[in-house]
Amino acid sequence: MALRQIREIGDACLSKKCKPVKEVNQRTLDLIEDLLDTMYEAEGVGLAAPQVGILKRIAVIDTGEEYQDGPIVLINPEVLETDGEQTDYEGCLSVPGKVGRVTRPNYAKVKALDAQMNEYTVEGEGLLARALLHEIEHLDGHMYVEKVNGPLLTNEELAELLKEQEEE
Ligand code: NI
Repeated sequence: MALRQIREIGDACLSKKCKPVKEVNQRTLDLIEDLLDTMYEAEGVGLAAPQVGILKRIAVIDTGEEYQDGPIVLINPEVLETDGEQTDYEGCLSVPGKVGRVTRPNYAKVKALDAQMNEYTVEGEGLLARALLHEIEHLDGHMYVEKVNGPLLTNEELAELLKEQEEE
């Protein structure tokens, strides 16, 4: 198990377009393992290679939802289809301690390669759709903060706001 340092917003790696993966070698497999270790350690639901300073089109996701059979490894992912709309608070391990309200499609279907370079598709709604689209945007140098409507909040501010809304 190896943890990698998570780059934070403002780091040049987070605004670069990442290169497609042509072959999976031991270094690639180590990177995937490290991405998973780093994501779980930081209690995130997704992590993309540029967030640890590697400009390759690789990301991992684990939303922890019951139907999801372990972590999703995305190599060279492409969005095939989106549908619907959802608005919710979203965060990113590269923007620690903050969340912002983002509107995204409620459904996403994605084509990608797995760690054995086999093509597969993954589709999801709600949180999984949000995570898929969020991670794929990282690979093109984009961050959710570009899409936020309203202020970035701390988790405490969000809890406060939700409490106020409940009381209304
Ligand atoms: Ni992120």
